[in-house]
Amino acid sequence: EQPSISVNPAHKTAKINKNIYSGFTEHMGRCIYGGIYDPGNPLSDENGFRKDVIEAFQEIDVPVTRYPGGNFVATYHWLDGVGPKENRPARPELAWLGLEPNEFGTDEFMKWCEVVGTEPYLCLNFGTGTLDEALGWLEYCNSTQNTYYANLRRKNGREEPYNVKYWALGNECWGPWQVEQMTKEDYAKKAYQWAKALKLLDPSITLILCGETGYSSWDYYVLKQCVKWDVHGLGGDRTKSLIDMHSIHVYTADKEHYANATAPRGAERAIQMTSALIDLARIENNVPHTVPRPTICFDEWNVWDPVRAPGELGAEESYTLSDALAVSIFLNGFIRQARDMGMANIAQSVNVISPLMTTKDGIVKQASYWPYMLFSRYMRGWTIPVNVRAEEYEGRTNPEWIRGTIETPFLDVSAAIDEKGEVVTLAVVNVHEEKSYDVKLDGIPSGKQVDVYTVGGDHVQAGNMGGKEEVKIVESKWDAKDSYVFPKHSLTLLRWRI
Ligand code: AHR
Repeated sequence: EQPSISVNPAHKTAKINKNIYSGFTEHMGRCIYGGIYDPGNPLSDENGFRKDVIEAFQEIDVPVTRYPGGNFVATYHWLDGVGPKENRPARPELAWLGLEPNEFGTDEFMKWCEVVGTEPYLCLNFGTGTLDEALGWLEYCNSTQNTYYANLRRKNGREEPYNVKYWALGNECWGPWQVEQMTKEDYAKKAYQWAKALKLLDPSITLILCGETGYSSWDYYVLKQCVKWDVHGLGGDRTKSLIDMHSIHVYTADKEHYANATAPRGAERAIQMTSALIDLARIENNVPHTVPRPTICFDEWNVWDPVRAPGELGAEESYTLSDALAVSIFLNGFIRQARDMGMANIAQSVNVISPLMTTKDGIVKQASYWPYMLFSRYMRGWTIPVNVRAEEYEGRTNPEWIRGTIETPFLDVSAAIDEKGEVVTLAVVNVHEEKSYDVKLDGIPSGKQVDVYTVGGDHVQAGNMGGKEEVKIVESKWDAKDSYVFPKHSLTLLRWRI
């Protein structure tokens, strides 16, 4: 039976939050120092910011960037990183066992965000940090009042507030590797109290609860304890929420291509499960429907295997075409689940587990850079449903539980229509290593001029590190007919005006 894809541009199902294309920069390995910040390098600007990295962020149009961790944040004191650089202390760093010089801190990050055109998202220290310190950071960033930390910001050269909207209530607080690992009971109690205080200080912020994978008892418990509405500070307002998003993290990887490329289907299932837990918490807590429903902040996702990754900390990944297809399937999942997605942050954005690698003399755009760039550029607006009939991959999956919970077709498809409702983009990942599929297409009028973007390479292990350029985008035009041949191991975007 011929595979088929049918798409209906008239039927928009959910708005795609552009923040699903967000990034993450942690004080880890060469992400900050030698990544976005490289003073003295001829490729850097007067602030010490790498211009080639800035250009890549702008090419992708990264809407929001998370900072400063990650695990790093569990011992980070933001006051160490502000004020005259000569007075800033160097500290031992306990997440990655490095030394933190604190040359790059809050004001540098805010400046970098302004230069790039990305919005900051700050993660609070739930390890060794105090609530006072967190409130101080919020005041420093956002307050217009005549108060101590707002004045400290002014003294440090910044009159206007930074208006940081996104704040995370800790990072992976459940993890045994975490300084001050917490039980779910301890975390929920603390997160609720901190959330209340932070919103009293600045009710305009968006608060992100620390979840796990989205399908754990931690996720269930912390949502149940924190997704409530009748709290002090919100004054029983039935249109306000204390917790605005729930964060989840999933990294995937496998040595074998099919298990590797299909693994992000598990991440999509995780989104569905998180969504159900959010509903369950609201139902069990009798949250009025007028209170905004928390969305999902998938603030760490990517292909990562610390064992296979060379370089410092097992984090300097060398990505293959197989990984680029996995990244494409992650992104297809975010489009399909757009209704629940408030944000997603590729982890990370530079050098560490990243599609972008810097050297002293330039930048490498790895295989996975291209799908990320294409999705961010073209898959915005609204998600539209697709019906797909395709051969199913029935081999081993990673994790194993994917099998039986969600399908793993060789053709993984999503579609979007732009904001104005004029241009449709169909994203098709063909995971198959040997077969190109001739697919019957329904919904693209015959004869339409279609722009085609294909990301591919000679084999699934092709990559761009080490001076190679084996995985890239090929652009072409196509006069639409009844069917299109999607090449083996490729991502194809078909884009037409309706
Ligand atoms: O992104 C690398 C690390 O992975 C982050 O610091 C942490 O949150 C996760 O375990």
